[in-house]
Amino acid sequence: MSREIERILDLLQSQGRLSREQWRFLLENRSKELAAEVFRRASSLRDQVYGKRVFIRGLIEFTNYCRCDCRYCGIRRSNRKASRYRLTKEEILGCCEAGYELGFRTFVLQGGEDPYFTDERVVELITAIKGRFPDCALTLSIGEKPRESYAAFRQAGADRYLLRHETANEAHYELLHPKEQTLKNRMECLKNLKKLGYQTGAGIMVGSPGQTIDCLIDDLVYLTELQPEMVGIGPFIPHHDTPFRDESAGSVELTLYLLGLVRLLLPRVLLPATTALGTAAEGGRELGVKAGANVVMPNLSPENVREKYLLYDNKIHTGKEAAECLGALKESMAAIGYEVVVDRGDFAGL
Ligand code: 5AD
Repeated sequence: MSREIERILDLLQSQGRLSREQWRFLLENRSKELAAEVFRRASSLRDQVYGKRVFIRGLIEFTNYCRCDCRYCGIRRSNRKASRYRLTKEEILGCCEAGYELGFRTFVLQGGEDPYFTDERVVELITAIKGRFPDCALTLSIGEKPRESYAAFRQAGADRYLLRHETANEAHYELLHPKEQTLKNRMECLKNLKKLGYQTGAGIMVGSPGQTIDCLIDDLVYLTELQPEMVGIGPFIPHHDTPFRDESAGSVELTLYLLGLVRLLLPRVLLPATTALGTAAEGGRELGVKAGANVVMPNLSPENVREKYLLYDNKIHTGKEAAECLGALKESMAAIGYEVVVDRGDFAGL
């Protein structure tokens, strides 16, 4: 390990920020050895803050209708082949009930931007879930909304919000999205969510078409400014019915490296080992934890809709990412020295 690299990693940990040139140095000089050092530091930092504990979130994919047309995403509006569904309030509560029995204390309501779910309906859902499971945290992941909507959801009891920024580089954002979706609005949404007191999650896909080292530097600088409580990072995986069908998938190694760097940048961050990472590599989630992640999000959606919430090809929906197989997940985490815990797992330092 070169002196210069050690110095930059020390600086990252002591200052909680780096210059663009220093980030570039870390990204351009990535090697097996450097990655191992980043993972070692990231793991030790995560263990200091959270102990050897991994938090679980029950993911409920409650609608795959979407008014957006993101070029990478399998449930984009233009994909006429997607078989659309939405869950009823009763079905959603049933998922929570099953999840609660299994030990989940955080539910993540994730869906496309579905106009059927008006603010009124979303508020009704939040009220019902928080009324029935007052000891649980509720996370929303339902896209871009006006500030007033976010405020109403917060008022109704939502605790957290996931909204990946996807890329902090304007030109790259334009390559990934149609004209009506802007980086400016995405960032405005994230700022509003933070201001409203949500534990807020940003994040990116690694290796999305057109992503360069400069884009990643922009992302790391943006995360430094935003100081999100959560960061979702997974590899891009092409979907066969999108314009990016022939693009190559993102690198698992680079994804892991970025998880480690983000842990060093934001020591207390809640960092999931994502489903996309689990899809892209056998044992991907365990590798994610070894790199610095501390959250996994098993699927609580009803079995018959799981295969319809396809953001990318080959998405895993049986096995350790399925909530019913919590036992297997616990075992595989225990095998690498981590305990899956029953806890809301709030951001450390609230
Ligand atoms: N590959 C990987 N991740 C994807 N997402 C959407 N489409 C893909 C894909 N093809 C991610 C986006 C989004 C999150 C819900 O899923 O980053 O924010």
